Amino acid sequence: MYKVIDGKALAASMRADIKAKVFSFKQDYGKTIGLAVVLVGDDSASQVYVRNKIKACEEVGIKSFAYRLDKDTPQKDLEELVQSLAADKNVNGILVQLPLPEHIDAEKVLSYIPYEKDVDGFCAQNIGRLCMNEDCLVACTPNGVMQMFASEGISLKGKNAVVVGRSNIVGKPMAMLLTNADATVTLCHSKTQNLKEICLNADILVAAIGKPKYISADMVKEGAVVIDVGMDRDENGKLCGDVDFETVKEKCSYITPVPGGVGPMTITMLMYNTYLAAVRSL
Ligand code: GUN
Repeated sequence: MYKVIDGKALAASMRADIKAKVFSFKQDYGKTIGLAVVLVGDDSASQVYVRNKIKACEEVGIKSFAYRLDKDTPQKDLEELVQSLAADKNVNGILVQLPLPEHIDAEKVLSYIPYEKDVDGFCAQNIGRLCMNEDCLVACTPNGVMQMFASEGISLKGKNAVVVGRSNIVGKPMAMLLTNADATVTLCHSKTQNLKEICLNADILVAAIGKPKYISADMVKEGAVVIDVGMDRDENGKLCGDVDFETVKEKCSYITPVPGGVGPMTITMLMYNTYLAAVRSL
């Protein structure tokens, strides 16, 4: 028997908790917590993500500062905006939505976000501290996955964990978090040989590849915990994940659905990171 982990319900309960914390922060210190969200251009997926981030801020009582800039915005203007947000005491977190237009040097823009306000957990300081298992702002999606393990009481100690996908945003920090939680981690990617055999050895399998229904039942060990980070479209244009849910679920002890799994946790952890950044700024 498998259990479907309800990310929507967990996100809702965590957001209620964050809302209470944000309220107490205001009561105790007389300060409203602020998150700046910068969107450049008109990428439709990014517009949806940014809208949802701003909505989540409203839900938990965080003030959002939204900047929607033209797709032709010069590099210098964007750098100056991030520099001014870095210096702004009302802004506790800065999020520059990726991808940025091609003419922009994204790395340079992101380098102006101080690590204390890097609520995405993308910068070298936060990644380095995560690597050393020290206090830091952790990338939102993998941190959301860790909350799912904790809420279900899933033990990671000594388990074989396989992460498929080595992006800086998900795969690499996910592998670090699992390592810090005493799992034995294999980080796989597009050049990995014997992917199926490696996956078949996974007690914990995290799919973050970006290919619809890529993980099939013959790649999954009986009783595995399967976490699907994918947000893909199937052959009919319907939203699906990296895991072929219908066939894989029968082999799992736990599995996350798409939608309603990891997705709602990502923005919840962004709210949590913004709250943490504010607490640490005191
Ligand atoms: N684009 C897609 N996902 C993300 C994310 O988590 N943070 C930012 N800044 N941009 C993204």
